[in-house]
Amino acid sequence: MKQFLDSYTPQAIQGHYEGKHIITVEQFHRDDMDELFEAARKIRRGVRRGEQGIPNLCANKVLATVFFEASTRTDLSFQAAMSRIGGRVISASNGISFSSLYKGESIADTIRAVGCYADAVVLRHPNEGSSYQAAYYLDMLAEKLGRTTVVISGGDGIGEHPTQALLDLFTIIDAKEKVDGLNITLVGDLKFGRTVHSLAKLIGLYGASDTTISFVSPPSLKMPQKVLDFLQCHGVPYYETDDLFDVLADSDIIYWTRVQEERFEDKAEYEAICNKFIMTPSVLAKAKPDACLMHPLPRKHEMGTQEDQDIQDRDPRAYYFHQMENGMFVRMALLAKVLGVTSL
Ligand code: NCD
Repeated sequence: MKQFLDSYTPQAIQGHYEGKHIITVEQFHRDDMDELFEAARKIRRGVRRGEQGIPNLCANKVLATVFFEASTRTDLSFQAAMSRIGGRVISASNGISFSSLYKGESIADTIRAVGCYADAVVLRHPNEGSSYQAAYYLDMLAEKLGRTTVVISGGDGIGEHPTQALLDLFTIIDAKEKVDGLNITLVGDLKFGRTVHSLAKLIGLYGASDTTISFVSPPSLKMPQKVLDFLQCHGVPYYETDDLFDVLADSDIIYWTRVQEERFEDKAEYEAICNKFIMTPSVLAKAKPDACLMHPLPRKHEMGTQEDQDIQDRDPRAYYFHQMENGMFVRMALLAKVLGVTSL
């Protein structure tokens, strides 16, 4: 599947969302993000006021969610998003054991079957490059059927998670009303964590001025070089450290992540570093009074004990509930746009 990463180039958005696959943040420029975020804000206002219109934006459209890895937020928020704009959802989200892949079918065929039934498909798969492969085969299907089904990545192995990054950046702008001049700190498993790969790149693509990204991780879980090179190309200064307290007191955004246990081949290696960065109320006490604590969730012990979490959740600096709710609005806007709604 990895070969598709090199050989398939998705189309840039460049102001036109309709019919485009969404598989990497590299498809977005700042104008595209601003347009999407404006639509998401409009939708959020409309939903809160109970405005007419939004529940019919995508009437007659069908979304398929196909998840070959566990998911709560991404799967359900896409399903909720589609329902709230009037579309219908079909789902093979019980994973590989209930799909024809289990019988030995290739992704190439599974995705084209889904493409015959749905207008858009959200795909999550453990192998990096799967969403590129899906896009390639859906393009082939479009030539045959004369209509396009778009694939939206819901997580591409250890590669990217573009819609999570979009909702994360939307939440940062919501909280800080800007991206310029922020110290953004990403903490934890920066090697296997796809959300942080996409978010770091998206910040680079947003072209904020005077923004610094700090990467805090154990040496064995550092941000991949290709992401660092990308930031350098986009003129974003970054700093790498394994000492959180180097940067915590100056951080405006603290983006915490789970160590991705399922990606480790050697369990002993996981055990050796899994307790390296634990957020607790006493750690949070050292952060700025107006910092934002973010997390893509799910969380485990890296956010402390249940008691720690209950305290942190009440702290006004905890933003992960905003992230979740915003995720649905951003996905409503994204689905509407790729499905051709122009009124947003
Ligand atoms: C993340 C993922 O699946 O990459 N979750 C999510 O989509 N919100 C993060 C994780 O699993 O740790």
